[in-house]
Amino acid sequence: MEGLSNITFTIVLGLLMLLVASSVSLAEPQTHYHEFVLQATPVKRLCMTQNAITVNGMFPGPTLEANNGDTLVIKVINKCQYNATIHWHGIRQIRTGWADGPEFVTQCPIRPGDSYTYRYTVQGQEGTLWWHAHSSWLRATVYGALIIHPKEGSSYPFPKPKRETTLLLAEWWNANPIDVIREAIQTGGAPNISDAYTINSQPGDLYNCSSQDTVIVPIDSGETNLIRVINAGMNQELFFTIANHMMTVVGADASYLKPFTTNVIMLGPGQTTDVLITGDQPPSRYYIAGSPYQSAQNAPFDNTTTTAILEYKSAPCPVKGLGVKPVMPTIPAFNDTNTAMTFTQSFRSPQQVEVPTEIDENLFITVGLGLNNCPPNFPSSRCQGPSGTRFTSSMNNVSFVLPSNFSLLQAHHQGIPRVFTTDFPEKPLVQFDYTGNVSQSLFQPLSGTKLYRLKFGSRVQIVLQGTSIVTPENHPIHLHGYDFYIIAQGFGNFDPKKDTAKFNLVDPPLRNTASVPVNGWSVIRFVADNPGVWIMHCHLDAHISWGLAMAFLVENGIGIMESIEEPPPDLPVC
Ligand code: C2O
Repeated sequence: MEGLSNITFTIVLGLLMLLVASSVSLAEPQTHYHEFVLQATPVKRLCMTQNAITVNGMFPGPTLEANNGDTLVIKVINKCQYNATIHWHGIRQIRTGWADGPEFVTQCPIRPGDSYTYRYTVQGQEGTLWWHAHSSWLRATVYGALIIHPKEGSSYPFPKPKRETTLLLAEWWNANPIDVIREAIQTGGAPNISDAYTINSQPGDLYNCSSQDTVIVPIDSGETNLIRVINAGMNQELFFTIANHMMTVVGADASYLKPFTTNVIMLGPGQTTDVLITGDQPPSRYYIAGSPYQSAQNAPFDNTTTTAILEYKSAPCPVKGLGVKPVMPTIPAFNDTNTAMTFTQSFRSPQQVEVPTEIDENLFITVGLGLNNCPPNFPSSRCQGPSGTRFTSSMNNVSFVLPSNFSLLQAHHQGIPRVFTTDFPEKPLVQFDYTGNVSQSLFQPLSGTKLYRLKFGSRVQIVLQGTSIVTPENHPIHLHGYDFYIIAQGFGNFDPKKDTAKFNLVDPPLRNTASVPVNGWSVIRFVADNPGVWIMHCHLDAHISWGLAMAFLVENGIGIMESIEEPPPDLPVC
């Protein structure tokens, strides 16, 4: 008798302890361990097979999920024939710059056969980010979603969606993307355009040999679902539309937004947008479409449309079967800059936010293309740009060159001289009518590895000014290590006298990638509270390859919590 009640007591006590333990562990941040194996994998698209580099043989790669506050530990094993790194696009990497990933910026590449473990904590970010290779053009196939759920115990600032779907938009070549960029660098011309756009790596019904694998997005009548849209494309801004369904935008780049409703969204490469859609249409099938927004003039681009299908679960069977075509959305014209601008101008933070009002560093940075004269020793086959030139691009007339012996962060941390200089100009050395008819004499930038030094905690404003050199174009400018407020944007040349009045210092959106309007400007602000070396670049990869980048060196502050961590022991060497 006594023995039995003792056992009962032990069981009850055990259960109680389990209960306590599980409720404690629920509230605690978690650490998620993953292994990413990079390897060549045969992938069949558009009737042809390519040996694409993938992660774990998956395409798109695995989706990472975490709660705000959690730690991610990802061991990347490089079993492909190329140097590789992985960047966790949009993760702030506070004090953990060693895990940021851009090749020769925060680390040397992981050589074929080697591995490196990335370790970082998600701090204060919720929503949709993504990860991608950050070495040459590997990211064309090496990418995936990184979803950050609300902190354990908290919830979305909108009603909980019934279902969540992630849609990665990207580009596909009937070629090896590494060869595409190698050829462009060799010839000096523009890289070949892609052969298809894709949604979750599938081109969809409008391309050859693709309709069998078109992505289906389920919905049911009356339910409201969250769609996480990511532009993982290489070189193209994209419009995104869903036939007959309005979208309520609730977040972008892992920050919430004041909800607004639209029938079209636009994303530059690197950007993400979270939208809610409601099943308020007759049960049927509706196309979801990704189509180009092309702002550069006279430049070839992939003028095709990728589709997925929004399918009502309650749709009658004949509709689901073949024969009945889904409804097609109205797609904006490829050059519809008004729609793109109206969309980006609608962004607001949900509440009033703390934008720095006093500014310590006021930078003016031009972003745009350029043309280098053909070097005397080059054959004409190597100068296939306009009128026998070679394409280039720059920020403030400096075309960014990556080092090759050390990463910038290593060089900074270990005090290795002659890897970089810190004389990136805070404004263009020559001022001109940036968006006007620019003289040919200004087409050829300098080149260099120039960084801009920031004291820990400095309050920074940057006017990003597009130029019309070669062609004006919308540039998605991405800053590593930070989110920034976009306080204004406009067309033409930024004019401090009249444009300062347009600054939104109340509820501007927080993002990691800003669209600089074609022939226009954007103004961003942030506090440099994350020490390290952080690259800022155009996320059109053709432009990065040509040098449309610069980097900030943010000094350590006072004490450990304001200083970068020590590098991990397995940090690759060059
Ligand atoms: Cu999404 Cu430097 O990259």
